[in-house]
Amino acid sequence: MGTFSRESLELLRSRIDLVEVLGPYVKLQRTGASHKALCPFHEEKSPSFVVQKGDSHYHCFGCGAHGDAIQFLMAHLRLSFVEAVEMLAERFNVLLEEAQGPEQPKGPSKALLKDTLDKASRFFQFCLLHTQEGHAALEYLYSRGIDLEFIRMFQIGLAPKADRLFLEAMRSQKISDPLMKEAGLFSQSGRVFFSDRIMIPILDPAGSVIGFTARKFKPDTFGPKYINTAETPLFKKSKILFGLSYSRKRIAKDRRVLIVEGQIDAMRLIYNGFNWTVAGQGTAFGEDQAKELIHLGIRQAYLALDGDTAGQEAAVKIGHLFQKEGIEVWVVSLPEKCDPDLILQEKGPQDWQKRIDDSVEYLPFLVNHFSRTINIQTPAGKNELVQMIAKRIRDWDHPLMVHESLRKLARLTQTPESMVGGAEENAPQIYFKRSATLGTTEIDPDRILEADLLRWLLIGTVSAPIIRIAELNLKPEHFRLSSARTLYEKALKAAKENQTCDLLSLAIDLENPEQQMFLAEILQKRINRDKALDGFIEAVRRILERYWMQQREEIKLKIYSGHCSEEEVLELAKKFDEIKRARPQVVQETGILSKKEDVN
Ligand code: UTP
Ligand code: MN
Repeated sequence: MGTFSRESLELLRSRIDLVEVLGPYVKLQRTGASHKALCPFHEEKSPSFVVQKGDSHYHCFGCGAHGDAIQFLMAHLRLSFVEAVEMLAERFNVLLEEAQGPEQPKGPSKALLKDTLDKASRFFQFCLLHTQEGHAALEYLYSRGIDLEFIRMFQIGLAPKADRLFLEAMRSQKISDPLMKEAGLFSQSGRVFFSDRIMIPILDPAGSVIGFTARKFKPDTFGPKYINTAETPLFKKSKILFGLSYSRKRIAKDRRVLIVEGQIDAMRLIYNGFNWTVAGQGTAFGEDQAKELIHLGIRQAYLALDGDTAGQEAAVKIGHLFQKEGIEVWVVSLPEKCDPDLILQEKGPQDWQKRIDDSVEYLPFLVNHFSRTINIQTPAGKNELVQMIAKRIRDWDHPLMVHESLRKLARLTQTPESMVGGAEENAPQIYFKRSATLGTTEIDPDRILEADLLRWLLIGTVSAPIIRIAELNLKPEHFRLSSARTLYEKALKAAKENQTCDLLSLAIDLENPEQQMFLAEILQKRINRDKALDGFIEAVRRILERYWMQQREEIKLKIYSGHCSEEEVLELAKKFDEIKRARPQVVQETGILSKKEDVN
């Protein structure tokens, strides 16, 4: 995760022009000293979304949406804080310097790597369109129904066969060999990685090239059909979703995604207006990629994987990743030996749309899929099938969905509900959310709780009641993390002066990379802004409760330490009782908001 130096963030802030940032997403109309538009955050007929001249914030008088350029990109494009900062830096030509933290990896900056890849991509495009060698590749693309407009839209190019051409072109633009290596343009052995292949760039949300996927177009070219950029500081394979740069906005808006296997499939679909498609990009589609999409707020995932056995098995696996997180999964059926690219070419977009409309829900798909290999006409076969699917369902995280799905499974397989559902010996397990582990990092519940509180304060729709509740209830000693305490104090101060906190100013104020890192972590997660007040109150309640328990623990420890006189012990015991009776309550001006029944 990047942390940026104070100087570069300050420079960025001074350069951001909010009207320019909003331009591509909101139809702003100038009226005197302000710009007005239909608010992108709620449905309306007359414009109440306003940007005053010279102000770095927008405000909607209809729904109260308010924020700066970063908040807009986070809310509208669903970028993370770091992504938004990087996008703005590119747009306004600011080189982001990494802050000097204790363990900052050394190497060329991301901006330099992106510049290198941009130059490479331009060279490849030139080769495809304007060289003799390019002709053969163009022929191949045309034969697959990929025309010039398609080629331009996806910036498709050609890596020529002779490495020399590429090296000369890059070196003449003062791109050093180590830089090319770091950008993934060289192999481990130091040779040019891509040659004699059609080059398809992979873009980040700001539209910068971060890597390539490359297809061979002649049978005698060395290596597999597709090769991809290896892991680089820019290109994190497990997170890459091909096509996302084109589909992100629609996915976030419609809250659904179409997942396919191949890059060409994704491009063909996007080109034909299905611009809510992504491809898993060669490597198997995994948990990280599912999380990327879930962060965009999707509610439904449509899987259109190849009609063969491998494709169907992939659908079982990928579907599980989404169902587990409470996302509805639909499976689009494809004839065997057919992929979306072929269907669109041969039958057109209407046929494809019909397939989407006819897609089946995940559960009937599972039953159908497993009945192909298990004979459910025999009691043993049916038992095996039902138990196997029920076991998968119980692995999902949402109790209500598990409950409903088990009932549905019973109906689909014509099995009595009591045999599928609740009576299972391990059924109650589903009511416990499985413990989370993030890779090898330890989960720190204090950090999670305090980040949660700050998140509401920073990206919720901050209102006067929230600020008031914060002031009335929270004291510095309630925090355990010093970063959280500092951020809280700064955020509260900023919120009071400014209605919502200006995230960039806040980041600039953080000298300490650990605090910047914590801020980025807080902002990584998306929230439902409509629930800001309730969410905030709940977080405050949990923090007060934690503090209350801690005080009692401290007294207990003193009593048991053996260092206290009889009198002191009596005194402490009295205090313990007093604290125990005074369970914390979240106070608001109008009275107590959250009171829980007493427990021992
Ligand atoms: P397919 O073999 O189905 O290719 O592999 P495709 O998508 O239809 O590609 P075209 O239409 O022939 O160009 C499905 C996906 O598996 C990955 C690619 O992401 C491909 O799109 N793959 C396949 C590789 O990474 N390497 C390979 O050699 C082959
Ligand atoms: Mn194909």
